[in-house]
Parts: sequence; C-alpha cells; structure tokens
Amino acid sequence: MLDLEDYIRIIPDFPKQGIVFKDITPLLSSPEATAQCLKELVQLVKAKKIDKVVGVESRGFFFGTLLAQALGVGFVPVRKPGKLPFTTIKQPYELEYGWDALEIHEDAIAKGDKVLVHDDVLATGGTAKAVCQLVEKLGGEIVQCNFIMQLDFLDGKDKLRKYPVASILNY
Ligand code: PRP
Ligand code: MG
Repeated sequence: MLDLEDYIRIIPDFPKQGIVFKDITPLLSSPEATAQCLKELVQLVKAKKIDKVVGVESRGFFFGTLLAQALGVGFVPVRKPGKLPFTTIKQPYELEYGWDALEIHEDAIAKGDKVLVHDDVLATGGTAKAVCQLVEKLGGEIVQCNFIMQLDFLDGKDKLRKYPVASILNY
C-alpha cells in the first residue's frame, strides 16, 4: 500500500506569494499511485447509488472520468465560461478577489439523478459549491462531494454544509 501523500509535491509561493500549492503531477505520473488513488476515491463513495460523476475543469477531470468509468456511470464536465459547445447554464462564484463562473450543459443531468461531484482539492469551497448549485438547478441530487485532498484550515466544508464531503488526504 502506497502513502499517497508521498506523491503530492508541495510548492511554496505558487501561483503567488503565500500560497502553498499541492501538485498532483507526481501522482498522475505513477500508474500505481493513480490506481490506488482511484481505488480510495471509489471506497469513499461506499455502496451509494450514483447515476453521474461531475468533474470540474481542469484538475477534476483527471480522476473524474476514471471514477465514472470505475463506477460504471457517465461523466459530466463542468467548465469555465465559453468552453462548452451546447446550451449551458451558468453559476457565478466568488474568488478571493472578484468573481468567476462555471457552466454545465443543460441536458447533462436528468431530474432525480444521483450525482457524485469530484475535484482534486477542496480549498475555500467556492468551486465545489458552484458545481453543486449547477447540478441542483438541473434537478440532480448531490450524493457526495469527493476530493483527493481537503485543506482543512480554509474551512471549505462550511460552504458545503448541505452535502456529504469526503477526501482521501487532509492538510
Ligand atoms: C483549484 C482546484 C479546485 C479549486 C479549489 O482549481 O483544482 O478546483 O481551485 O478552490 P476553492 O475550493 O477555493 O474553490 P483552479 O481554479 O485553480 O483551476 P484548475 O483546476 O484548472 O487548475
Ligand atoms: Mg480546479
């Protein structure tokens, strides 16, 4: 059994001063670590019934698609504005300074779909909350928000209070 923490590279002051970046590229470059990470993400879901996995551009795509495949369900991308080609709905969310938005295809989730939201990192929770809001606008039910790692000191869980949250690693 590998210690996945060994595959997360810590980069101080990236992308700006004071931010300690958690780089998952060493994990992605190891097929053994990637396989174990996927297995642990699937275990977080336990026996819950899932109809769709929603992954967030861009780092949520790596394991989002693998998770969907492992669970035997479809994958839905949530993307930054202007990237999805079909009709979309949009959810703005607050950044440290200013606003951004995320989009999803309007036909990506059916009413009543049980949805697993996946991203690599839970930091302030703004991204994941916006994704949950998009899914709910389309009538989906959030079964779990699932992350490789969670930055506990940023209290992202508070923004996701309404939803079950699970991660493999805590910092
Ligand atoms: C990072 C990370 C999460 C999000 C977490 O993505 O991959 O998606 O920030 O932050 P939050 O909980 O404070 O919202 P980023 O927007 O940097 O883009 P990327 O995935 O395309 O690198
Ligand atoms: Mg991201």
